[in-house]
Amino acid sequence: MQDKIVKGFSKLNKQEKLDWLIDHFFEQSKDAALDFEGFWHTNQELQSILDGFSENTVSNFFMPFGIAPNFLINGKVYAVPMVIEESSVVAAASSAAKFWLNRGGFKAEVLSTIKLGQVHFFWKGRMDKLKAVFDELKEVMNREAAHFTANMEKRGGGVLDIKLLDFTNQEEHYYQLLVSFETCDSMGANFINSVLESYGQTLERFVAEHEGFTKEERELEVLMAILSNYTPECLVRASVSCPVEQLGFICDGIDAASFADRFYKAVRVAQIDPYRATTHNKGIMNGVDAVVLATANDFRAIESSCHAYAAKDGQYRSLSSCTIEDGIFTFWVDLPLALGTVGGLTKLHPLAKRSLELLGHPSAAELMQVVAATGLAQNFAAVRSLITTGIQQGHMKMHLKNILIHLKANELEVEQAVQFFEDKVVSFSGVRDFIEGFRKKKAEEGEKGEGRRVKGKFTERLSSRPN
Ligand code: MEV
Repeated sequence: MQDKIVKGFSKLNKQEKLDWLIDHFFEQSKDAALDFEGFWHTNQELQSILDGFSENTVSNFFMPFGIAPNFLINGKVYAVPMVIEESSVVAAASSAAKFWLNRGGFKAEVLSTIKLGQVHFFWKGRMDKLKAVFDELKEVMNREAAHFTANMEKRGGGVLDIKLLDFTNQEEHYYQLLVSFETCDSMGANFINSVLESYGQTLERFVAEHEGFTKEERELEVLMAILSNYTPECLVRASVSCPVEQLGFICDGIDAASFADRFYKAVRVAQIDPYRATTHNKGIMNGVDAVVLATANDFRAIESSCHAYAAKDGQYRSLSSCTIEDGIFTFWVDLPLALGTVGGLTKLHPLAKRSLELLGHPSAAELMQVVAATGLAQNFAAVRSLITTGIQQGHMKMHLKNILIHLKANELEVEQAVQFFEDKVVSFSGVRDFIEGFRKKKAEEGEKGEGRRVKGKFTERLSSRPN
């Protein structure tokens, strides 16, 4: 165990870090070293940019970058960039986008853009005494934070409001400053945190120096100052709507009215039952996260905010809703998305920069709309599958493809396997037995399947990567 503990790891250069790792955790395997090194970028400049995003880097972790075209959102057509490792997600988003393209597309509106931050503090005084000096305190806090807020104010943002909250009925001496912000096109984390830390320092000093307080009251303890990732007032709604009969032919045995009815029930189930809601919302996040990642926004922040929002009334529920009223099917999602299109990694990551270019250099508000529409599309596609063919039909095709790549099937073998498994359950052993049987038969026939080996782009890349 002792030999796995290291001092000064961060001081080693990348090669030294990797060597240490291979020696201590991979039994000096050359193959393991090659796997890590194989993903180093050959362009030094780009590699340094990537290394700069994190610490102790020993390699890069690739994710597929896909495109879901034909997204009509508020009358504008987008090709949406999606970074995701799960098969079927981009295909599902594309199919839903195409479906709604001829039915008016997606409507999206930003309901509000306020972000929040908090200064948590402990004070052995009464709320009314702080309240009495609060206006004066706010003025000093804002004056002392002016060097942080001046630029944001020029861009039309800044601090919107500061509230003093009393939590002493839950925890002795616990108070809070709840601050709301407008951060325009930036996600604004650095800006918000800088302002909050400045407020915290001012608060401590202001109270310590104020003549109106007793000796004990002059000791105020700021515990922490940090933004809140729960942003229920940074909210976007995306929706689709059409007359039920326009839902058209979905699949064998289900007409438009039955489809709408089953869809409505599926959304209701996700509103009632938290177990289903979690999976239902995961489907929404499949779309949301993929665009958030492609634009180098903070997907962990988005995840935590959306799930907190899903539980806003005390029970975890579906983020999307559905109605069928007067023959009109409407399906929508409300999502709290604190996104940015300037700052952070958005312009530093070369592909994030391209993603934003692909989306037409959107404002943060426009990006919120695109992300919400993609989440809704994903949810629509998932629920559509679940209530009609079942989810496995589509997934199994991808599963079969992955197994065939693993078995290094050639073109002929792929063709035969796809035909054979058309109406059968796909399992690894089933496919392996089929391929082995097919190869044996071919060998007996004296023919060698010399078709090209099937490769995904990934394996092609690996085999063509520079040494
Ligand atoms: C899989 O990644 C997502 C789904 O499970 C979502 C859902 O069940 O609604 C298909």
